[in-house]
Amino acid sequence: QELQMNLEQIEKGGYDHFMLKEIYEQPSVIKDTYRGRLLANQGIVRMAGVEDNLEKFTNAKRILIIACGTSWHAGLVAEYIIEEFARIPVEVEYASEFRYRNPIVYKDDVVIAISQSGETADTLAAIKLAKEKGAFVFGVCNVVGSSISRETHAGAYTHAGPEIGVASTKAFTTQITVLTMLALRLAKVKGTMSTSEHQRYLLELELMPEKVEEALASNEVTKQIAAIYKDAPNCLYLGRGYNFPVALEGALKLKEISYIHAEGYPAAEMKHGPIALIDESMPVIVIAPNNGHYDKVVSNIQEIKARSGKIIAVVTKGDTQVRALADHVIEIPETSEPFTPLLTTIPLQLLSYHIAVMRGCNVDQPRNLAKSVTVE
Ligand code: G6P
Repeated sequence: QELQMNLEQIEKGGYDHFMLKEIYEQPSVIKDTYRGRLLANQGIVRMAGVEDNLEKFTNAKRILIIACGTSWHAGLVAEYIIEEFARIPVEVEYASEFRYRNPIVYKDDVVIAISQSGETADTLAAIKLAKEKGAFVFGVCNVVGSSISRETHAGAYTHAGPEIGVASTKAFTTQITVLTMLALRLAKVKGTMSTSEHQRYLLELELMPEKVEEALASNEVTKQIAAIYKDAPNCLYLGRGYNFPVALEGALKLKEISYIHAEGYPAAEMKHGPIALIDESMPVIVIAPNNGHYDKVVSNIQEIKARSGKIIAVVTKGDTQVRALADHVIEIPETSEPFTPLLTTIPLQLLSYHIAVMRGCNVDQPRNLAKSVTVE
């Protein structure tokens, strides 16, 4: 028994929970994921699974992304990035829906399946269906040799290392890293981005581990905020553009481990429903980096404030406008808009972690949830 305890403590590397350890591993696993693939000073992104099938990607009229849970959120971020960088239409679908609705799949579609475990039953079944319909299926998995990595035609692994906490953290940011590299590679070969812009993004991606490290410095302030809102029965997460999926993911993290009801919404949709919920007891987490519809998000914040909602804003370092309105701000470093999800997601992971700990929840093994869902 004692030996078992010690082993587990060693595995947690000095952290109280696997989840916290995995949150803190993100700078290094993002680097592990791009190492040898992102050659920024040569202006190159090189992933074997992509290079070997480059024509499949460049001929694709459409990319379909299938996944579940947090991986589906990474797919949504990728939709924004791939469409913007490579100008290929992308559709993102829950694997569980895709597999049962007789979906339209063309032979020249590229299907990307995203899965940390590589064992999710719905994703695996969706892949088999897409293959039957003649599509080329590309996997983005974390677990080497997993069923999905074997079932797909090709793929690119994330190098997140083992993820033990049921709530996915480092898998999400490394999935985004792989899919960003894919988008940059396709942008280059398709000529949808200028060489200088391409180069700027490569250099910026290379800096993300450092910036994620900086974003982790929000741990203390996030903990203080968690102490104030830990008993809230509901929580709303808002974000626009690239950060809309981050709002979904932030809400999912809170639901999963703290059992607080939370919803993620595109900020502009607030007026079509969620605004009715806002009163002085409703914490609203607003993702408001200084690029990407910043002014519109500021007006959303004003609308929340006018209804006495409590505003927790994730802002770019040095922000003054949102700071003047919000009850709390959490700062992240500056980056170009498509890369903001890698940073804005960090304080949201920490916020749900601290709230769950303060509520006495089993952070690493939340009730009713499984790390990998191998049955329907
Ligand atoms: C479960 C896990 C989630 C995960 C989802 C998809 O619900 O609890 O953390 O995002 O499955 O898993 P996958 O391994 O396919 O990414």
